Amino acid sequence: PALCDLAGRQVVVSAGPTREYLDPVRFISNPSSGKMGFAVAEAARDRGAQVTLVTGPVNLPDPAGLKVVRIESALELRDAVVAAAQTADLVVMTAAVADYRAAAPSGEKQAKVAGDVTIHLTPNPDILAELGRDKGRRVLVGFAMETHAGVERAAGKAQRKNADFILLNYPTREGTAFGGDNNQVTLVRPDGRHEDWPRLSKREVAEQLLTEAVRLLPPTP
Ligand code: C5P
Repeated sequence: PALCDLAGRQVVVSAGPTREYLDPVRFISNPSSGKMGFAVAEAARDRGAQVTLVTGPVNLPDPAGLKVVRIESALELRDAVVAAAQTADLVVMTAAVADYRAAAPSGEKQAKVAGDVTIHLTPNPDILAELGRDKGRRVLVGFAMETHAGVERAAGKAQRKNADFILLNYPTREGTAFGGDNNQVTLVRPDGRHEDWPRLSKREVAEQLLTEAVRLLPPTP
């Protein structure tokens, strides 16, 4: 029989990019495909969990058998994740959340002007850190993408955000992270202990992530 170690558990997964609109037709975003987060959500479903998948705009259909919430901005992502997290046992923040949004988005399409323009950006809330401040018994997992000093930076993030562990991936390695079907990650704990996983399919990364998270879950009553 299939592995059912998440039966009776509620899992929230965020996936994909966010869009931060400058005006009705322009936004700041990133190339996240959503594949990693969808893989985590599907793997959790297949292991018996009740799953809420909160996703930014991606070219992936709703997976069967889980609750899908489609959002656009980081503020919408935060509302949906925080609401779903209230009763969750595990939250996996795979989404590539934009760090900033327009301070004063225009309700009308902005016309082109001569010369340079300046856009005033304001920081988005850090959702993982917010969940970490009110952690309860939930297990919290983050992702991080770094181009340098990855392990130290990821350990610092896990510590600051009160995450149980972070999967560090790299935007630059061939066939990993953005858009691809495979990923090569390093599991990094808040104390800096870490282990490199081999290059795996995103589904296999998801399965290993869940195996690690299950170890950290409090026993069911
Ligand atoms: O600090 P950094 O963005 O590298 O941290 C990455 C982790 O934090 C990811 O798990 C991401 O989903 C989460 N995050 C968040 N809210 C933000 C930015 C990142 O939850 N505003």
